[in-house]
Amino acid sequence: MSERERTVHARELTKAYRRRLGRREEAISVLAGTSIDVLAGERVAIQGASGVGKTTLLNILGGLDRPDGGVLLHKGRALPGTAADRARWRRREVGFVFQFHGLLAEFTAEENIALAGMIAGEHRAEALAAARGLLAELGLAARATHYPDELSGGEQQRVAVARALVRDPSLVLADEPTGDLDPRTGEHVIDLLVAQQERQGFALVMATHSEKLARRCHRILQMEGGMLRPVGPAGQGR
Ligand SMILES: Nc1ncnc2c1ncn2[C@@H]1O[C@H](COP(=O)(O)OP(=O)(O)OP(=O)(O)O)[C@@H](O)[C@H]1O
Ligand SMILES: [Mg+2]
Repeated sequence: MSERERTVHARELTKAYRRRLGRREEAISVLAGTSIDVLAGERVAIQGASGVGKTTLLNILGGLDRPDGGVLLHKGRALPGTAADRARWRRREVGFVFQFHGLLAEFTAEENIALAGMIAGEHRAEALAAARGLLAELGLAARATHYPDELSGGEQQRVAVARALVRDPSLVLADEPTGDLDPRTGEHVIDLLVAQQERQGFALVMATHSEKLARRCHRILQMEGGMLRPVGPAGQGR
């Protein structure tokens, strides 16, 4: 397998959160030797009880946080060392979808999607055109100029998906992406995410409490005691 195809390669990641409690320092060990590989085009679900470390792992895979130890490669290379370089890397390579859409209230749907491109130096017209194109693919052409509070919850989350995908990332990290939606709307959002993945070919890692959602992935990993173990193949990834 070439390193290009292997989007994520993580070995024995460790992470503890340190907090001051008066004079003492308390360390909460969250990751204790977490290993995961994700190929381009692959969908991997991560399940596990609340507080087990799913969000912590996604944040580390996406360079928002750093592990204390272990090896983390993206397309065969270590993540950039400085925060500024990591931010640039993230804008190019990673898309995040969170439980709550996180759209900026004072920008329209298309502007929310176009912002990342504009920050990266695209012209406004070009970034907006890309945003509109993706909104159309996600069935939201008619909502492009709506503000977030003029969209339904499912529409807001579809805009958040478009925001994550518009710059053609190699890795998409979804943290309970349907947690705030009713089951049917949630499934619709996932249908669109999966369809778009098949077009774009990114690697997708999704933390979810939903069995149904997890079965849409090629593999399901269970997080427990700071480590991941396979729980057998999921459905057919459909
Ligand atoms: N910044 C922090 N400082 C200290 N402890 C933290 C911090 N962030 C998370 N934790 C703790 O680390 C553990 C893992 O948190 P994390 O958010 O990764 O869990 P999770 O598996 O995503 O849970 P959920 O399913 O509820 O979203 C939890 O016990 C949490 O309390
Ligand atoms: Mg979480």
